[in-house]
Amino acid sequence: MKITMIGTGYVGLVTGTCFAEFGHHVTCVDKDKTKIDKLLQGDIPIYEPGLKRLVAKNCKEGRLRFTTDLSDSVASGDAVFLAVGTPTSRRGDGYADLTYIYEATKEIATELKGYTVIVDKSTVPVGTADQVARIIRETNPAAEFDVASNPEFLREGAAISDFMRPDRVVIGVETTRAEEVLREIYKPLYLQETPIVKTDIKTAELTKYAANAFLATKISYINEIALLCDSIGADVVSLAKGIGMDGRIGGKFLHPGPGYGGSCFPKDTMALMRIAQEQGQSLRIVEAAVEVNGAQKAKMVKKVRDILGGQEAGKTIAVLGLTFKPETDDMRDAPAITILPALLEKGAVIKAHDPQGMDEAKHLLPNGIIYTDNAYEACTDADAVILMTEWNQYRALDLEKIHTLMRSHHFIDLRNVYEPGHVREKGFTYSGVGRS
Ligand code: UGA
Repeated sequence: MKITMIGTGYVGLVTGTCFAEFGHHVTCVDKDKTKIDKLLQGDIPIYEPGLKRLVAKNCKEGRLRFTTDLSDSVASGDAVFLAVGTPTSRRGDGYADLTYIYEATKEIATELKGYTVIVDKSTVPVGTADQVARIIRETNPAAEFDVASNPEFLREGAAISDFMRPDRVVIGVETTRAEEVLREIYKPLYLQETPIVKTDIKTAELTKYAANAFLATKISYINEIALLCDSIGADVVSLAKGIGMDGRIGGKFLHPGPGYGGSCFPKDTMALMRIAQEQGQSLRIVEAAVEVNGAQKAKMVKKVRDILGGQEAGKTIAVLGLTFKPETDDMRDAPAITILPALLEKGAVIKAHDPQGMDEAKHLLPNGIIYTDNAYEACTDADAVILMTEWNQYRALDLEKIHTLMRSHHFIDLRNVYEPGHVREKGFTYSGVGRS
C-alpha cells in the first residue's frame, strides 16, 4: 500500500515509521522544513525508544521518505492519514483546535487522484470526519474518496511496542471499500490475531476520548484512594494489587502519583467534556477525574511542605525527574510544572535532574531552578529529595551515598518506587503516595 502521513509529530512519525516496517511505502509530510531537513539527516525530533533505529532502517530500505511537498504522494497514494496536532484551543475553553486538520484537508483535496481513503489519526471531536468530507467535496467535487477514523492508543515511551502489539485496532468506516483499504494496511497485525474493531466513524472518534477519559478516571480514583490510605495508615500498593487482580478491574493504571500529565489525558478529558456539553449533557465522572487531578498536584505540594515542617523557605529540594512520565522528553502538562513553581514561590531552592527533559523544562519552568548533571549532584546539600518521575535510572539509587550527600534526610517518593522500610533503614524519613 502507498500511504501518505500528514504531520511528523509524535503520532505521525511513529505511525508512518511502523507502517513502513509493515512493508508499506510511506511518505511523511510536514510543513516544517527544519523538521523535515533534520529527519532527512536521520535526526529524530522527539525522544522515543527504538524510533531512530526504525526510521533509519526503513529509509535505507526505501519504504520511508520525508518531504514538505504532499502533491506526489497524495496523488499516487491509497490512503492519506491526518496526524497533525489538535491542541486545546487558545480560547481556553477546552475545545480541540482543528485548524491544522482543516488546513491539511484543503491541501490534500486539490491533489487527490483516483480512489483514496482519508484517515483521521489525530484525536478529533465527533463529527470531524464529516467536516473533512465536506471540505474535500467543496474543494474538489471530482475527488473519489472516503473518510475513515482510526484512533491511536500509543503511549509515549512505549509507542513502537504498542503499535506492533496493540490490544486492538479501531477502524471507523462507512463503506466496504474504505474498510478493505484499512484492513489491508493493518494486515500484518491481523495475521498475528490482533482484534480489529470495525465500527462507524462517529463511534470510532468517540472511542478514543472515552478510552483516555476512562484511564484518567482510573488514575484519579486510585489517587484519591491513596490519599485515604495516607490518612488511615493503609498501603495503597497492596490495595491496588488486591483490587487489580480482579479481572473486572485490571491492575494497569492503578499506580498513584502526583497526578496524570502529558499531551493527551489533560487535553482529551477537557475536549470530551465539551463534546458532552454540546449535546446538553455533563460527564460528571470525567469532570470529577479532572478536578481530582488538579487537587492531587496541590496535595503533593502540601505533602512536601508538611514534611519540611511547614516551611520551604531556605530549604533545598532535589527533584528527580521532570517529564510527565519516563522514556520521553515531553514536559507537556507534567506535574513538575505545577509543583515546582509552588515550592519555588515559597522560597525553596530547587536542584533538578531529568535524563531527557531538562532542555524543555528550562523553557517551561521559572528561572532559578538549578539543573544538575546527575541525581547525586541534585541531592548534594539537599534537605529533601522528591522522586517525581520513575525513570529506570532512579530505581536503584545508591541511598547510602545520597544520605552522605544530603543535609537532612527526607525521601519523598511520589511514584512509590521504593520499599518504605528499605529507605527508612538507610536513615531517611520516607513518604510515598498512600504508603504511610
Ligand atoms: C495516553 C494513553 O495511555 C494512550 O493509550 C493514548 O494513545 C495516548 O494517551 C494518546 O492519547 O495519544 P500517554 O499520555 O503517552 O498515553 O501516557 P500514559 O502512559 O497513559 O500516562 C499518562 C499519565 O498518567 C502520565 O503522567 C503517567 O505518569 C500517569 N499515570 C499513568 C499514573 O499516574 N498512574 C498510572 O497508573 C498510569
